[in-house]
Amino acid sequence: MTVIKKLALGAGISALMLSAAWAEGLQGKVVGFSQIGSESGWRAAETSVTKAEAEARGIDLKFADAQQKQENQIKAIRGFIAQGVDAILVAPVVATGWEEVLTEAKEANIPVVLLDRGIEAPEDLYLTSVASDQVKEGRVAGEWLVGTVGDKQCNVVELQGTVGSSPAINRKQGFEEALAGHANLTITRSQTGDFTRSKGKEVMEGFLKAEGGGAGICAVYAHNDDMAVGAIQAIKDAGLKPGTDILVVSIDAVPDIFAAMVAGEANATVELTPNMAGPAFDALDGYLNGGTMPEKFIITESKLYTPADDPQGEYDRRKGLGY
Ligand code: AHR
Repeated sequence: MTVIKKLALGAGISALMLSAAWAEGLQGKVVGFSQIGSESGWRAAETSVTKAEAEARGIDLKFADAQQKQENQIKAIRGFIAQGVDAILVAPVVATGWEEVLTEAKEANIPVVLLDRGIEAPEDLYLTSVASDQVKEGRVAGEWLVGTVGDKQCNVVELQGTVGSSPAINRKQGFEEALAGHANLTITRSQTGDFTRSKGKEVMEGFLKAEGGGAGICAVYAHNDDMAVGAIQAIKDAGLKPGTDILVVSIDAVPDIFAAMVAGEANATVELTPNMAGPAFDALDGYLNGGTMPEKFIITESKLYTPADDPQGEYDRRKGLGY
């Protein structure tokens, strides 16, 4: 056999081996997913997208719903470690308290990927984090409000996310950064609505009562769309027009907020993609099939949407995506 033929054959075989490894991807791998719960439409969509992505890639996904409790997440992660899964995905409900359990995963050689929220722990305890820049999300929302109200005096009420969660901390910070130096814009009330529609409504009802039925409120900033939708209901129940009498700005870009925009009841939202699993599985694929270290932080986009961005079209485009 000539050298050229040998080389060609060799190249053919290694190309075949390469494509077999490539095609294998995460097929047959077992991945544990500790999800926070189902507090919002966005969270439900993230769960659906993760399950669909896992199925498309032939992954055996072990799903655990923590019902908003960190202790349940820690229990689930320990269970995944005991089962000897190939990797773990965690959407951490709060930012602190993860070191011990993530050290256990590391000692068991199981890579952990954080989804949509950050933690305060040494970076070597997780392979990568797939999330948005949450400070930027708050800043984008705040800059929209600054640009919209101009020089007008504007008292803002804020509905915060879950206490101690990274989006609640960072979205507050980013929004405040945007308002800094604009003395006409003041956050007069701020309270947690725990990222849920019902608490968003309840807290907004309290704000409205405390502010003369709403006369003293120019805008509501909600850390997610679900709380904004709850606030919109409270504003309507108080006999005011959301979107006109009180501006509504929030984060997520779920179908319901676009429906509210179509009705003239919401003014702006910042998009958070529910597809965190796609980049997470790509990172795990590279790592488990060849040891490629992904970027430590994989940052998703934070795009602003207003009624000028075809809200009906956005609603139609998203409504079948698992929300
Ligand atoms: O961590 C992402 C946030 O969590 C989403 O904005 C919110 O809707 C969810 O519950």
